[in-house]
Amino acid sequence: MSKERTFSIVKPDAVLAGKTGAIVQHLTDGGLKPIAMKLVHLSQEQAKGFYHVHRERPFFGDLVKFMTSGPCLVQVLEGENAIAKNRELMGATDSKKAAAGTIRQKFGTDIERNAAHGSDAPETAKYEIGFFFSGAELAALGVTP
Ligand code: CDP
Ligand code: MG
Repeated sequence: MSKERTFSIVKPDAVLAGKTGAIVQHLTDGGLKPIAMKLVHLSQEQAKGFYHVHRERPFFGDLVKFMTSGPCLVQVLEGENAIAKNRELMGATDSKKAAAGTIRQKFGTDIERNAAHGSDAPETAKYEIGFFFSGAELAALGVTP
């Protein structure tokens, strides 16, 4: 077991529904500690850049519209096997199919409005943390590389 970092988003549907605190608590109870967090309202360019791997997919336009519809909580989580643990706590992409008790099942609506994002691999975690948090911001919080 090794301590790892991952990147997490509480998506606009969940922030609007007042579920930010409940989701952070669920992650914390699951062993993932937030070591950096902030609210951001994504621009079109930021949403397109963050999800660029999906740019050819049919759902891309709607996803960008959703992700820019209101503020998100973006955060860095730390814990044992944080990447896999976060994905496990979130549940399947489609909220309608996510296992009972998972974040996406409890707080999401469907395959698009699914309440949360979590990095899927070490390289994406590193890229996604750097997309939203500068080295200076992290250093000010005592978060070293
Ligand atoms: O977020 P996750 O890694 O579980 O799924 P993804 O396949 O990387 O898709 C990224 C996001 O696009 C999802 O979390 C959904 O919000 C959205 N999506 C969608 O709107 N329609 C799909 N058919 C698949 C994904
Ligand atoms: Mg993904």
